[in-house]
Amino acid sequence: MSHVDAATFRHALGRFPSGVTVVTVRGDDGLDYGMTVSAFASLSLEPPLVLVCIGDDATIAGAVAAAGHFAVSVLSEDQTAIAQRFAEPGADRFAGAKFSRGADGLALIDGAAAHLECTIVARHRGGDHTIVVGEVTAASAVEAGCPLVYQRGEYKRVQ
Ligand SMILES: Cc1cc2nc3c(=O)[nH]c(=O)nc-3n(C[C@H](O)[C@H](O)[C@H](O)COP(=O)(O)O)c2cc1C
Repeated sequence: MSHVDAATFRHALGRFPSGVTVVTVRGDDGLDYGMTVSAFASLSLEPPLVLVCIGDDATIAGAVAAAGHFAVSVLSEDQTAIAQRFAEPGADRFAGAKFSRGADGLALIDGAAAHLECTIVARHRGGDHTIVVGEVTAASAVEAGCPLVYQRGEYKRVQ
């Protein structure tokens, strides 16, 4: 039984700054799926692993559960609008978003500070989320790219 109420939990977590990514997958239907994700972390150097946490209720969850690959676009400081669009329920998220395609055909958002292409190697349950572990098969970073930061419910730039 939990001893912390949801508001206090969220309030405390809001003090922790995170980067902002867009995670993309390809559905069985051949469509692109994407979502704003701050629960992204590096996990291992050898082999190179990262993880993302995807909520059970997220529209993208079914596609992620069936997918063999995912891609991560680490958003740049000028990509607040992309972060908002890919978090908006019911939005046609890829409409107007400029992107290229990686080796596995996944959407990589143009202008991102970094891109990672991953093969899914494990999934773990974590409460109402799934921790999806990916082995990184390709990575690139913009040398001068500054990342977007999310903290206390606001988008910020690294000062
Ligand atoms: C800054 C930010 C970070 C987010 N991070 C996550 C995350 O790490 N995992 C997650 O499941 N949802 C995350 N969300 C929520 C989703 O982006 C999305 O808003 C939510 O799943 C509702 O979209 P849906 O209609 O596609 O389900 C985040 C939202 C915002 C604004």
